Amino acid sequence: MLFWLAKVGTVVNKPDQDYDRATELRIQIAAHDQAYHGLDEPLVPDADYDELVRELIAIEERRPDLATSDSPSVSVGSEPNEMFTPVEHEVPMMSLDNAMDLKELDAWHERILKGLDASDKPKFVCELKFDGLAVSIRYDDGELIQAATRGNGRVGEDVTHNVLTIRGIPHRIDGAPKILEVRGEVYLPISDFDELNRQQLANGGAPFANPRNTAAGSLRQKDPEVTASRNLAFWSYQLGQVSGGPVISSSEETFALLESLGLPVNPEIQEFSDFADVREFCENWMGKRHEPDYEIDGVVVKLADLTQREKLGSTSRAPRWAIAFKFPPEEKITRLMKIDVSVGRTGRATPFAVLEPIFVGGSTVSMATLHNEDQVAAKDVRPGDMVVVRKAGDVIPEVVGPVVTERDTKSEPWSFPKTCPSCSSALVRSDGDANTYCLSRTCPARVETGIIHFASRNALDIEGLGERTVRGLVTQGLVRDVGDLFGLTKNQLLEVLVADASNETLVNNLMTAINEARERPLSNVLIGLGIEHLGPTAAEMIARRFGSVEAIANADVAEIEAIDGIGPVIAQSVADFFSDSHNQLVIDKLKSNGVRLDLVDGETDVPQILVGRSVVVTGSLDGWFISREEAKKAIVARGGKSPGSVSKSTYALVVGAEAGQSKLDKAEELGVPVVGETELRLLIEIGELP
Ligand code: IVH
Repeated sequence: MLFWLAKVGTVVNKPDQDYDRATELRIQIAAHDQAYHGLDEPLVPDADYDELVRELIAIEERRPDLATSDSPSVSVGSEPNEMFTPVEHEVPMMSLDNAMDLKELDAWHERILKGLDASDKPKFVCELKFDGLAVSIRYDDGELIQAATRGNGRVGEDVTHNVLTIRGIPHRIDGAPKILEVRGEVYLPISDFDELNRQQLANGGAPFANPRNTAAGSLRQKDPEVTASRNLAFWSYQLGQVSGGPVISSSEETFALLESLGLPVNPEIQEFSDFADVREFCENWMGKRHEPDYEIDGVVVKLADLTQREKLGSTSRAPRWAIAFKFPPEEKITRLMKIDVSVGRTGRATPFAVLEPIFVGGSTVSMATLHNEDQVAAKDVRPGDMVVVRKAGDVIPEVVGPVVTERDTKSEPWSFPKTCPSCSSALVRSDGDANTYCLSRTCPARVETGIIHFASRNALDIEGLGERTVRGLVTQGLVRDVGDLFGLTKNQLLEVLVADASNETLVNNLMTAINEARERPLSNVLIGLGIEHLGPTAAEMIARRFGSVEAIANADVAEIEAIDGIGPVIAQSVADFFSDSHNQLVIDKLKSNGVRLDLVDGETDVPQILVGRSVVVTGSLDGWFISREEAKKAIVARGGKSPGSVSKSTYALVVGAEAGQSKLDKAEELGVPVVGETELRLLIEIGELP
C-alpha cells in the first residue's frame, strides 16, 4: 500500500482522464488486495475486483506510457503481513488471468495457438479452481522444512507450524527429490465449515462468513493449535523449485509424481486434445459447482506440455499458458421485506435492503447495502418486491434489481427518509453529492459507530469494547465521544456490563484494554479519529513526518501535502479535521486522560532524499543495520522504495551475506550497481551512491 500511494504521487504525467482513472483503479485494487489477502476480509465480490483489474489492464494496454512496474495489473496478491516471518519465493507464485465467459476462453485458445508452432498440437489439462489459499511447501531431503503463503507472489508469509497441522500433508516423504517445493491450495471442506459454524453459534459466537475466508484466517494464525482445530485440507497442483528429482515434462507427470509422493491430488483433473472438450468441462462444472465438499469458483485450464509452457512464457503477473475460467456470480430471488437506513460515524445515511434470508453464493444473505438514494431509484426496488440477489462466492451481497412481473400493482417507489432514524434530526443531501448525511454531532448512531471504529483492530485495538457495550455506554450518557472512554471508572463500566448480565472479569479485562490503548502509535490514533480519506499508509506517513498530534494540528495544508505520496485531498481533509473546534475538544480530552499522541515507531521527520529511487536489499545484513527489514524501512522512510526484485528502474542492489544468485545475475544483466552495506549507509545518509 505504501508503495502505491508513493507511486501515485511520483508518476510524472500530464493529468488526463486515463491517468486519473488508472490512478484511482490502482488505489482501489491495492486496498482490495490488502483486504482480501492481508486481512482475509474482502470488501467486494471477486467479480467486481476482477473487473477493476481488467479495466486497469485495458488502460495500460491502450496507454503503455501509464503502465508502472509495480501496478497491481502486473503484481500479485498483497504485501505480506508483518506478523509472520517473510519467505522469499525463489520461483515466484503467480496469479492467473481470467476468462469471464466461453468467448474469452476461446480468445485465450486462439492466443495459445498463435504462440505455438503449427506442429505443436497442444493438449490441455483442466483442473477445478479451488477457492482457498495458495501455499508453497518445501521439503529438503524429504523433510517438510518450510511452508509459506503466496503473499505478493515474491515474498510470502511463513506458516510452517500451521501447515504441519493440516491433514493429508506429509511431514516426511521417503524418496523425495533433494529439494521439492509443492504448491497447492489449502481449503476448508464445506461440511467442516458448517460444523464449525454450528459450534460457533452454540457458543454464542458470530458465524464465519464463508469457507475461503475461514481457511485463510485459520492458516494465518499465530497459534498452530487454532489451525489444528479447524480441519483444513489441501490439494496439490504444481511444483515450485525442484532439484534432484526425475525430469518432468508434462502436467500428467507432475501429478503422477505428486501422487506417488503421497500428496493429495484432486480426482477431477482431466486432459483433452480437443478444445471443444475443454469448453464442455467448464460448462459442466459450472452446472455442478456445488457438488464437491469444497468450494470452487471456476476451472483452471493449462497447457499440458511443459516445453510448450516455456515457449509461451509469462507476464510479470501471470503465465500465458494458463487461464482461469471463472464461474459467473450466482443469483437467487427473494423478497425485499423493507428498506432501512443506517447512519455511520461520518453521518452518512446508507439505505440497505432487509431480505427474506436466502442461501446464495455459499452463505445465507439477509441484508444488502443499496449504497445511496440514486442507486435505489435507478434499480427501482420497492419494499415488498421480489428481487434478484447476487453474490460472487464472497461476503458482500448485492441486490441486482426487482422482478417487475411479480410486483404488487399497488406498490410505490421508495423514498429516502427525511429524518435520521437514530436522532431524528433532518437528513441533508447537498447538490452534486450522491450521499445523504445526518449532521448532528451528538447523533447516537454516529457516536457509537465512531467509537467502534476507534476501538477497532487497526486503530486503538481495545479488545472487549464491542457493539453492545458501546451502545450501553452511549445510551447511559457515560460516553459522548472517544475522549470520554479513557475517563471511565470501573463502577461505570460495571453499571453497563452488569446490566448486560456479564461479570466483573469482563470489566477488569476491559479496563486493562483501555489502559493499554493509551500507548498506541500515533498512526493508529490518526486512523481511530476517523479523518476522511485518511488510510493506514497516509496515516503512517503523516505520523512519521510530524511525530505528534500537536505538530500535525499546527501544520498547514501545504506542509502536509509536501509529503511525497500525500495528495491535496488527504492534506485538506487532515487540516480541516484539526481546525474543527469539536475535534480539538476531543483531542484535548484524550490528552488530559493520558492518551499518548506522539508515539512513532522508528525514525521521524527524516529528509526525503531517496524519492524516486528504488533500492533492492537482499541477503542478511548484520553490520550497520540490525536486519534487512530495518534497512528497507530506512529507505522507505526517506521516500525511496525497496521492492523485492531487481528491474531496470532499480537504482542499486544491496547485497548482504548469503544472498541468492538470481538477483545478482539480474542486476548484472541490467547494469544495476551492486553494492554492500557501506554504500547502503551512504545512500541512507546522502541519498545517492558515491
Ligand atoms: S495454478 C501459475 N491451479 O488461483 C499458476 N491455481 O488466481 C498458478 N487456484 O494463486 C496457480 N485452484 O490460489 C492453479 N487448480 C489450480 C488452482 C489454482 C485454485 C488459485 C491459486 C492461485 C490463484 C490464481
